[in-house]
Amino acid sequence: MSKILLTGGAGYIGSHTAIEMLNAGYEIIVADNFSNSSKESLRRVEKITGKTIPFYQADITDKEQTEKIFEENDIAAVIHFAGLKSVGESVSCPVRYYKNNLLSSLNLLEVMEKHHVKKLVFSSSATVYGNPDHVPFDETMPVGVCTNPYGWTKQMSEQIFQDACVADKDLTVILLRYFNPVGAHESGTIGEAPNGTPNNLMPYISQVAVGTLKQLSVYGSDYPTHDGTGVRDYIHVVDLAKGHLAAIRYAETHTGTEIFNLGTGCGYSVLDMVKAFEKVNGVSVPYRIADRRPGDIASAYADPAKARDILGWQAEKTLEDMCRDTWKWQRQNPNGYNA
Ligand code: NAD
Ligand code: UFG
Repeated sequence: MSKILLTGGAGYIGSHTAIEMLNAGYEIIVADNFSNSSKESLRRVEKITGKTIPFYQADITDKEQTEKIFEENDIAAVIHFAGLKSVGESVSCPVRYYKNNLLSSLNLLEVMEKHHVKKLVFSSSATVYGNPDHVPFDETMPVGVCTNPYGWTKQMSEQIFQDACVADKDLTVILLRYFNPVGAHESGTIGEAPNGTPNNLMPYISQVAVGTLKQLSVYGSDYPTHDGTGVRDYIHVVDLAKGHLAAIRYAETHTGTEIFNLGTGCGYSVLDMVKAFEKVNGVSVPYRIADRRPGDIASAYADPAKARDILGWQAEKTLEDMCRDTWKWQRQNPNGYNA
């Protein structure tokens, strides 16, 4: 039986997607260099699903290692999660980010072509929209000016994949633009395990709530939003994972490039998130108002209609689910996978 290859499948979004793919009856293989994850996440996915996951400790920027996976397996499609994702780190280490994120995309395309693998789903980001003058963001909007190298790697990869589709009429590339993934599997056994102090809001909130961090800095209270703090489209990672299943199903019967936002269409502010987290979990999240974070925009949320109409997918989980599941994972795993 042919298999779906998940590059970066041991990571936060990849591990949740692995569960949905396995539960839907797909055979999967994971390739990960574990630069930002551990084998423990795969062991836990195996426990949740009762299935074994074949995996390669492989770096997708290494052609030989990537080639070996395709030689040894009959691969029907690839979901390409592998990438470095820290916005701040990409500003300090731009070459590392361009090299890792672009070379992995280029290698994959070459190896896929050689092995006649024609279906690819790519993890892109709403960051490619830059700072448009209105919300919600829809897929027909032009890509914007990114404020950091990480964002450029996503925009450039999108361009590379689109050009490859123009040249090869049998190729299918689905570009998924994620908004802000949060939450964890309802078991609380897999979740987001950032290295060091988190940059993203939800992991930061939960580490303040658990007592690892003292207080949250709210970056800016003078944005043109309902309470002055930044507004984002937070999406439960399990909903996001199901979006990949829908994308793979769509890719099975279509060719060419298609772009989909994966978001809920709802915008919540930083203070909305703090209040919801406190209320749902009965905890306290002390915060202070700080300066704006350079590069942040006031408001970003999706128009999710295209994914609903074409993929038949829409987010179902609530803000309450996101807060509850984040907290369950955090409480059960205060040190992430390093128990
Ligand atoms: P993650 O860091 O948890 O997962 C990425 C995985 O890729 C990790 O397991 C890492 O070890 C692996 N990896 C990195 N470079 C690799 C390489 N060269 N070869 C093999 N494996 C490699 O991140 P995530 O949150 O699960 O994100 C998955 C994808 O989605 C990334 O491409 C990310 O840029 C993108 N994305 C994430 C977010 C977000 O907020 N989490 C938002 C938009 C897009
Ligand atoms: N925020 C704080 N304090 C913190 C962290 C964040 O106030 O300690 C605020 C930010 O200013 C922003 C909101 O919380 O208003 C969300 O910030 P995140 O860092 O969680 O998420 P971003 O929207 O900035 O970035 C995310 C992903 C990027 C992706 C981007 C665009 O992390 O990878 O969305 O889609 F590029």
